[in-house]
Amino acid sequence: MSTEQGQPTLRDVADEREFTIGAAIDPDSLRRDPSYWKTASSEFNAVTPENALKMGALRPSRHTYDFRDADAIVDFGRENDMYVRGHTLVWHNQKPDWFQAWDHTDEQIEAFLRNHIHTVAGRYRATIDAWDVVNEAVDDDGSTRRTVWSDAMGEGYIADAFRWADEVTDADLYYNDYGADEVNEKSDAIYDLLERLLERDVPIDGVGFQLHALAAHPDPESIAENIERFRALGLDVQITEMDVAFPDDDVPADAAERQADYYRAVVEACLEAGCETIVTWGVHDGGTWLRSFKDFGERYSGDPLLFDDRYERKPAYRAVRNALEKHRER
Ligand code: G3I
Repeated sequence: MSTEQGQPTLRDVADEREFTIGAAIDPDSLRRDPSYWKTASSEFNAVTPENALKMGALRPSRHTYDFRDADAIVDFGRENDMYVRGHTLVWHNQKPDWFQAWDHTDEQIEAFLRNHIHTVAGRYRATIDAWDVVNEAVDDDGSTRRTVWSDAMGEGYIADAFRWADEVTDADLYYNDYGADEVNEKSDAIYDLLERLLERDVPIDGVGFQLHALAAHPDPESIAENIERFRALGLDVQITEMDVAFPDDDVPADAAERQADYYRAVVEACLEAGCETIVTWGVHDGGTWLRSFKDFGERYSGDPLLFDDRYERKPAYRAVRNALEKHRER
């Protein structure tokens, strides 16, 4: 498919370059809005459910599952020949409401998590290509985050989660986190954690750096250096949740150009360092979490993606496409 005065789409360019360019997907928009459907399928070759595969969305009660939204997105991905990322099996956030009131024992938590991973990863054994098995297990100071999972199972829950996923799926298995995109205290801690897991033969294939570039825009050179060191451990590295914004009270006059420049710099850093996958955290600005996530998101400019509210291509879109095209021509 070609649009914009005969220009190839982003997906055309990415396919040719064998690069994976994805978007986080909201099932209601997919069902309701033809422009959303068309943009997602023609401009991206990868999808990930933004919320539909999280425990809170999947588990209306302790013993039941609701896969309707997750299935809709996975089916959409498969039908359109896209790479499908699963997000996420184990996280401390977005647990079901009933969970908070559950008076559980440690053994019950362990059995619950094992069953959850077996059921969810098993259901999509052949249809999900990559899973964020564990999300955000490291705290901002580099320590292991205290969560309901670590309280019940100790730090070993991370290794257990990867092993349980590996028992039921053919997907590649990722550790995913924020604030660790460049070389810093947190990414050092994640590096040490993953190195220890690999030494113990825990089945882990890669690491996802979210890259929510909001107030701070991590240095692309440091991102490249970070990608390289994790790849040297034998891990694949993916950028899994990219968006680029500015503090709401300090939006520069040339925000659209600066945003485009940053997207371009990240794509270039990624390609140079051997990362072959970037997923943006939404299809268009109208659907960004920054506009709906109360207290946090509202502090940032609400237009962090490649397409604007009307699905028009932004300078950031052209920057990403051109960076991929340029690289292809080398
Ligand atoms: O589904 C309910 C809906 O029934 C209700 O009417 C509505 C009222 O507020 O809330 C809806 O749930 C919201 C959900 O998104 C679906 O829209 C939650 O309140 C809201 O908190 C939730 O936010 C999500 C957030 O994760 C939760 O922590 C964002 O959409 C999602 O983009 C965001 O994604 C995370 C990644 O998973 C991990 N990395 C960080 C990233 C951004 O925070």
